[in-house]
Amino acid sequence: MAANILAWLPGAVSHWQEQAGPGVEVLLGQPPAPEAVLPALVGAALAGARLPAAAVPASLGKPGWQHLPDFDTHILVCTGPRCCFRGAGTLAQRLKAQLAAAGLARRCLTTSTGCIYPCNQGPVIALYPQGEWYRVSDEAALVRVVHEAIGRGRRLADLLLEDRPQTRSAPVPERIPT
Ligand code: FES
Repeated sequence: MAANILAWLPGAVSHWQEQAGPGVEVLLGQPPAPEAVLPALVGAALAGARLPAAAVPASLGKPGWQHLPDFDTHILVCTGPRCCFRGAGTLAQRLKAQLAAAGLARRCLTTSTGCIYPCNQGPVIALYPQGEWYRVSDEAALVRVVHEAIGRGRRLADLLLEDRPQTRSAPVPERIPT
């Protein structure tokens, strides 16, 4: 997260300065603990933005953010309140660290979500296109999901959440009726 913000913030500050003038002020809400570094990053970006305008082109985006990401597995990480109560507050970070250590980071897109409903079975992560939802209750489970389910394509029956009801069996109409 910090690296993403560092890449984005200087251009964004230049953009805000272009819009509002050089006295732009950046206000932050209370960051959660993992983002406690944010105020220092914003300060550094503001300091950098005092460089000549050409040094930090105004931009709210980066060229690489123009395209859909390339990945094999989309991982949804629930950061809803019940999963966080069960330890999911740092789950996305720990997952990304495990993916990187396993050499799988570039094959996966990790997205933190709000509640995705099977709260009682949390912490929950879901893999797509596999359609597998797992309970990741500790680091050992996380390592297995990364190495076995994502890395080797194995279905981990003992960690899978109970099967979802099949609610999508109706054929999709070729045309939406007018
Ligand atoms: S809070 Fe995670 S599934 Fe509801």
